[in-house]
Amino acid sequence: MLGKATAALLSLGTLARAVAVPQDNASATTSARVPNATSGPGRYVPSAADLASGCANIGRVAASFVRTSDAQTANFFQIDSKIAYDCLASIPLEQEPALEFLFELSKFVQFQSTITYLARPPANSGQDPMDVLGGLTDIYNSVEAGSITSWNELETRVDALLSGCHEGHLYVAWPLPSLINFRAPFSLMDLSPDGKQASRVFVADDVRASSSQFRPSAITQIDGEDVVTAIERLTYYEASQSPDTRWNAAFESQNPPKRGSFYARTRYPGANTFTLTFQNGTTTEYRYTAVALHQPGSNIWSVLTSGQVIWDRIINVDPNVRGSGGSGASRLRTRALEELRKRKLNNDQLDETFRRIEKRQSGSNAPPPPSQLVRYNSSFPDTPGVRPYIQDINQVVGGYFMADYTGDASKTAIIDITGFAPDDQNARFPTHAVQAAVELFLAEAQRRGMERLIIDVRGNGGGFVNMGYDLYKQLFPNSDPYSGNRIRYHPASLRIAQAFTQLIDQDVIDGLIRAIGGGMGENLSTVQANTYQVAAYASLSGLDQFLNLDKDGKPFNTFDDFFGPANIYGDRFTNILTYDLDNLLAVGDLSYDITGYDDRASYSTRSPPFTPENVILVTDGVCASTCGIFAEFLRNQQRIRTVVVGGRPNGEPSAAVGGTRGAQVIQHTAHMLNFVQIVENNFTPRDSAEQADWDRVFPRPFKLNIAEAAVNWKDNIRRADPTQTPLQFYLEAADCRLYYTPQTLIFSHELWSQVGRLAWGNETDCAVGSLKNATVVTGDSNGVPVSIGSNGDTGFNSGYGDTPQLTGDRVIDTAKLIWYGVRNSLGASGGRRGY
Ligand SMILES: *[C@@H]1O[C@H](CO)[C@@H](O)[C@H](O)[C@H]1NC(C)=O
Ligand SMILES: *[C@@H]1O[C@H](CO)[C@@H](O)[C@H](O)[C@H]1NC(C)=O
Ligand SMILES: *[C@@H]1O[C@H](CO)[C@@H](O)[C@H](O)[C@H]1NC(C)=O
Ligand SMILES: *[C@@H]1O[C@H](CO)[C@@H](O)[C@H](O)[C@H]1NC(C)=O
Ligand SMILES: *[C@@H]1O[C@H](CO)[C@@H](O)[C@H](O)[C@H]1NC(C)=O
Ligand SMILES: *[C@@H]1O[C@H](CO)[C@@H](O)[C@H](O)[C@H]1NC(C)=O
Ligand SMILES: *[C@@H]1O[C@H](CO)[C@@H](O)[C@H](O)[C@H]1NC(C)=O
Repeated sequence: MLGKATAALLSLGTLARAVAVPQDNASATTSARVPNATSGPGRYVPSAADLASGCANIGRVAASFVRTSDAQTANFFQIDSKIAYDCLASIPLEQEPALEFLFELSKFVQFQSTITYLARPPANSGQDPMDVLGGLTDIYNSVEAGSITSWNELETRVDALLSGCHEGHLYVAWPLPSLINFRAPFSLMDLSPDGKQASRVFVADDVRASSSQFRPSAITQIDGEDVVTAIERLTYYEASQSPDTRWNAAFESQNPPKRGSFYARTRYPGANTFTLTFQNGTTTEYRYTAVALHQPGSNIWSVLTSGQVIWDRIINVDPNVRGSGGSGASRLRTRALEELRKRKLNNDQLDETFRRIEKRQSGSNAPPPPSQLVRYNSSFPDTPGVRPYIQDINQVVGGYFMADYTGDASKTAIIDITGFAPDDQNARFPTHAVQAAVELFLAEAQRRGMERLIIDVRGNGGGFVNMGYDLYKQLFPNSDPYSGNRIRYHPASLRIAQAFTQLIDQDVIDGLIRAIGGGMGENLSTVQANTYQVAAYASLSGLDQFLNLDKDGKPFNTFDDFFGPANIYGDRFTNILTYDLDNLLAVGDLSYDITGYDDRASYSTRSPPFTPENVILVTDGVCASTCGIFAEFLRNQQRIRTVVVGGRPNGEPSAAVGGTRGAQVIQHTAHMLNFVQIVENNFTPRDSAEQADWDRVFPRPFKLNIAEAAVNWKDNIRRADPTQTPLQFYLEAADCRLYYTPQTLIFSHELWSQVGRLAWGNETDCAVGSLKNATVVTGDSNGVPVSIGSNGDTGFNSGYGDTPQLTGDRVIDTAKLIWYGVRNSLGASGGRRGY
């Protein structure tokens, strides 16, 4: 059984062979492709006795915690980092389920659209090469050979492999960080005196305590290592492509409100203590702590008394078997999904769509009028000191007038959009509410004669794609937003595309739209409602010829025109797809029309409320996913100037959009398994050989307690780019770079004032660049992206060596070859760990 799985795993990964044929099997060690799981100063290695007692020691802390009043409401309790790690490291794994999981994950990861680009990143992309499938194969082989026997090590190794891709859409929602995670005793702030001199790193509490008696001293070293190198190491495995965006992740901020990854450690920091050396010469040692999951009203740690019990009751639990593993196991999944939601990397649009159709009988799914979806003059968490004129009820977007808080005659308006989705799962009509808030705000801005607009997208990791299109169209109603998408070719994506195209053809689409009739689907028959569900998945998948338009916005004539595959960069893809925004099924949310389309088509004749030269986009680099799509519209189509805040203190240009610029995430369990089920419910394999093919290529449910996994599904390709490179492989500098000051870090309106002075006032120079004389903001004179990144000096792991370049569009028989990818380019130096 295991032998068979190995063979299948190897033959699966096999899509394009990048460089040399593998020289020898023996050298395909884990360190060749996967950064080492653990290393770093002062590494702590538990003894056998530590491992044996770790979980029981947590149980002792839990036993006294449950007698406190906090235990009635708390979701976590604090423990010593040593016993936390002792317990985690003692969790074993059983080979067969672990291998089956890795096998399923490797099947799914092949839908990652950029897998070939990750293995051989284009020059100047700033990416270190990551051979994901080769790395998974290595880990698989190590488990099979018995050299990985700890579940924590397996999680950490696979996590490092996926995180090393710096692709926010590529992840596994692991169980262990929801069970136990770690903390430093305080967070850090990264501050410059004026926003222009390079920043320095401070203990946040010191900054808050700053007074005429106490001037905080900057940190110069962490664990004896230069502070800049240490923070780069700490943040290496953050999701953003830009090293400056990753840098920002370490620090406390107010917009968005976060304490930063120096404070909140997903995984064990490698040691139980650390030292800081300050500029005043003091060196101080501090202890890490940890927190363990608590379920109010019960004591799960009275059961989880050993690593073996955690494996049996929490990890080796099939989530599809009702009641298995008890409530602790399902609570872990819930928590892992909540974490994802906070990172706004879900794709909840489908849930929203189904929620509406399911409620169609109750009549409760019609959105309330706009006036009930907004609030005026209430506080907004990201902006202490100033209240937005208007915000949506879910606190996603706030609209401000500078004159309201400066008391002068400023003609500047501000839109602060924290995401393109709410944090709260139970948010009411999130898309409608944001649309209403923005529309009412822009009307008021015009009434007040506002001339300038600052759009603040700091911390905006994306969300609903249609919300991004809508915001753009409200600002530039007469412009057609262009986002050229494509999906990686794979035998399974081909089969799914054939099935959806056959099931949801033009007649079915026309019939459904007639039946919905501009309403909320309340009159659909059961059969029609079921068809609608299939159509919604077809729409989400992007794999239906009739629900997509081509790069010129025209319907595809044939399936082959649509699906291709096109040979690019040694890999294969669909042809370029664009959204049919006039088709309510293609947009995928009943009753929500993007401004300028369908029921809101008449808006496209309105004139833009602001001219492009009077609009500035402010980011902290985090901007990803839907925010990346939105920013691309602004920068590439309107030449909007950008400001980026923060980043490494190096005085160099820094990317405005530092997160993934992929156009859609697809989740394994919530999405892909449903695509597969629709194929298998409606079509039967011709024979046992075809059945075997389906089993080989279609993802199947995880049988371990993994809440979710995801890949970047759609690339975003700029129309002008002759190489058709996914946008995240370009790092495009902001026109103006600033560092935070103590004032601009906490008070957004202070930052907006500084941006206003730099754009329209008497201040000229930014820390890097300027808003005054920015001419071409993206790309060369033809709009072709120009990257500020490079191979070899931006990534922390740049010791990997040269990246081999592709020659020609060679397509390799994917069914036959073993994927070895760029093992040699990953080099012998291994990687260094980020925690
Ligand atoms: C690698 O291993 C495979 C299977 O064990 C074997 O057929 C092949 O000859 C080996 N390749 C090299 C270069 O040793
Ligand atoms: C990675 O681990 C291997 C095996 O333990 C070790 O030989 C190598 O030095 C490590 N590399 C780094 C960069 O820590
Ligand atoms: C040095 O600076 C640190 C950080 O501000 C502070 O905690 C410490 O007390 C200072 N040491 C001395 C001797 O002033
Ligand atoms: C907004 O609310 C604050 C606090 O309630 C109040 O002081 C202020 O006058 C209000 N502003 C407007 C424009 O209504
Ligand atoms: C649904 O049916 C009712 C009753 O026949 C009708 O009044 C209503 O207009 C229909 N709604 C739509 C959107 O067609
Ligand atoms: C810039 O403008 C501000 C307000 O308009 C003014 O207070 C300040 O003195 C000016 N600075 C310079 C250098 O002109
Ligand atoms: C743009 O402005 C900056 C700051 O004033 C200046 O250093 C730079 O030379 C200017 N660039 C151009 C192309 O004019």
